[in-house]
Amino acid sequence: MTDQSSAQKPETAGQKMWGGRFSAQPAEIMQAINVSIEVDKRLWRQDIAGSRAHAAMLAKQGIISTEDAQTIDGGLAAIAEEIENGTFPFRAEFEDIHMNVEARLRELIGATAGRLHTARSRNDQVATDFRLWVRDRVDYTVAQLEKLQLALLARAEDYADALMPGFTHLQPAQPVTFGHHLLAYVEMFGRDASRFRDARVRMNENPLGSAALAGSPFPIDRHATAAALGFDRPTANSLDGVSDRDFALESLAHASLTAGHLSRLAEEIVIWTTPQFGFIRLSDAFSTGSSIMPQKKNPDAAELVRAKTGRINGAFIALTTVMKGLPLAYSKDMQEDKPPVFEAFEALDLALAAMTGMVGDLTANRERMQAAASSGFSTATDLADWLVRNLNMPFRDAHHVTGAAVKLAESKGLELSQLSLNDLQNLEAGITEDVYSVLTAEASCASRQSYGGTAPDQVRLQIKRWKETLA
Ligand code: ARG
Repeated sequence: MTDQSSAQKPETAGQKMWGGRFSAQPAEIMQAINVSIEVDKRLWRQDIAGSRAHAAMLAKQGIISTEDAQTIDGGLAAIAEEIENGTFPFRAEFEDIHMNVEARLRELIGATAGRLHTARSRNDQVATDFRLWVRDRVDYTVAQLEKLQLALLARAEDYADALMPGFTHLQPAQPVTFGHHLLAYVEMFGRDASRFRDARVRMNENPLGSAALAGSPFPIDRHATAAALGFDRPTANSLDGVSDRDFALESLAHASLTAGHLSRLAEEIVIWTTPQFGFIRLSDAFSTGSSIMPQKKNPDAAELVRAKTGRINGAFIALTTVMKGLPLAYSKDMQEDKPPVFEAFEALDLALAAMTGMVGDLTANRERMQAAASSGFSTATDLADWLVRNLNMPFRDAHHVTGAAVKLAESKGLELSQLSLNDLQNLEAGITEDVYSVLTAEASCASRQSYGGTAPDQVRLQIKRWKETLA
């Protein structure tokens, strides 16, 4: 065949692959709703890898000749090169990536191309291609998450003992260290990575050879194609093989959780960079200005990371809605599986990269954070704990006495540590000078030595553990 067929008129195309029983051309709108090449061309690597594995297996099993398999393999290699070089003619009349590749193969090697589709259907082909794509993306996402964790660990190390107010209800609660706060995100992203790894184990089965839905009468070797494509084993039910999209949904669900975590950190960055908080600073590289207000430095990247969650959550809802209620096995609805997955992982990639950049870029204002940590009666719990430990007071009573101390300090415009011993003793006679040793933010932090607590020693312990885990 020559390149002439690439100039084929759309209205006579289509028939090439499946037109045998058709006498009329599809309506224009039929083609318009059916075509997916602009979306699924992204699967070209996987499609060609799958076809090469399939052709090799067909030859090994004596289903096609070795010579034909070699011709097919050469043609597929040439196509890969064309796509790589940007010279491949992607054509809407061939609907999707599978038929575009096959049509081109026919142009390149002639009728032998028609043997490639023996014992295969686009149903198992697309299921295989898409699984391979998602699997790659899961690996990539895990690597991205680990980079972000390492960036967070580096900052946590810098600020392992830097005080900051810990919040509940976004009200000052108890002093923590900034390192401790950052480590909370290391934990979250660690769980995200482990969820993606779990999903990978489950998805790593080969649908190829499920054929249209019922399996194949040819003596195919599904274990061989599984091995060639890096799958652990073939899927064990051909109907499930072509109709399952759990791998995509599960990955989107995990992407959604990851996006939620990114969004929480992004929100904190937005808050911390306000002049009112002034806890951290992003350099010019990660800030934007306003076209009207010259004083502005905005954390746009953090805001956009926060917003990407919308797309990513939306993608999960989109695909789970597409899949809901579909009878077994394949339905064309499933062609709508790819846009949400591509879109979500593109957004997640950007969000992870931007967050890693911001974490690497940020510097904390230690003085300001320490001052904030020491205000707002943040050591009130420490005072109550002191009363329990030193005066054997029931915690509820200690809570009450401390509440009165806070009230008094507030009325005097002082912090707890600034109340005189006399003032404190008027509230509880047993209080001694020793109480001041627990009323500073530093002491409060350093005392929280319980495993996973905010004491700098504990923070450093967790940093060490994570570094070993990620090494
Ligand atoms: N483009 C299709 C998809 O993405 C490929 C499978 C088509 N199968 C079929 N029986 N029409 O789902």
